[in-house]
Amino acid sequence: QIIRELFGITELERKLSDLLGIKEVIVVTGDTDQSGWVKKEMGRAGARVLQQMAVDNQVVAVTGGSSVLAVAEMLTPTPSLKSTTFVPTRGGLDEAVELGANYIASLMAKNSGGKYRLLHVPDQLSPEAYETLMREPHIEKTLAYLRQARIVLHGIGDAKKMAIRRKSSPEVMKKLEQEEAVGEFFGYYVNKSGSIVHQIPIVGLQLEDLDQIEIRIAVAGGASKAEAIKAVCALSPVHVLITDEGAAEEILKSS
Ligand code: BG6
Repeated sequence: QIIRELFGITELERKLSDLLGIKEVIVVTGDTDQSGWVKKEMGRAGARVLQQMAVDNQVVAVTGGSSVLAVAEMLTPTPSLKSTTFVPTRGGLDEAVELGANYIASLMAKNSGGKYRLLHVPDQLSPEAYETLMREPHIEKTLAYLRQARIVLHGIGDAKKMAIRRKSSPEVMKKLEQEEAVGEFFGYYVNKSGSIVHQIPIVGLQLEDLDQIEIRIAVAGGASKAEAIKAVCALSPVHVLITDEGAAEEILKSS
């Protein structure tokens, strides 16, 4: 703690928490954009928060992405996590398997000794296929688990990078550019003022469901994500933000 004070990290956390109106901000040293180990440190911090906040028999919903994956990789068992069920917030988002929410939910369960459920639903569905799938008992049950989630852990992405990663069509890319999308979180693309400008049709947790969630934790770092973090937090406030010095300094500089 003394080292963190000396390096001004606690001050950064305080300033960011005031600026973004977030109760708890955790800043790890370094910048994810510059070095890979910083993401691992964010993962370690995220795992610690999950362990501290866990209660018995809870449901934890998780998104995909490399930052949430870093948390999954650092998770270790605690008695409450052993009785936790990890559920993906969404079906597939056309991501690489190891960055997908299904894989991450299963890895969290494996590393913490908990349980998991999968949501095998492609995102781009015809209305008929959607109706049929929604009545499928296994999917219905997973969605019921999602609705009971006590904690949601999600990443925040840079809008353009996420659209490229998801191999979005040229039309979507153009729309995002025209609408000046800067941030993304579980399929919602957000502009600077925190309004949704595009969304991928989804099966799973919807934006309005987030209001019912007791604890929302976001993990995102790197100076390049500063705009994205501000925009997403403006749209939908989180309770805990785990970030890095690079993003924290850039957010404060540009405000
Ligand atoms: C996606 C999530 O899988 O990853 C998004 O659905 C998030 O919520 C994104 O914005 C972030 O990915 P990364 O790799 O930058 O942490």
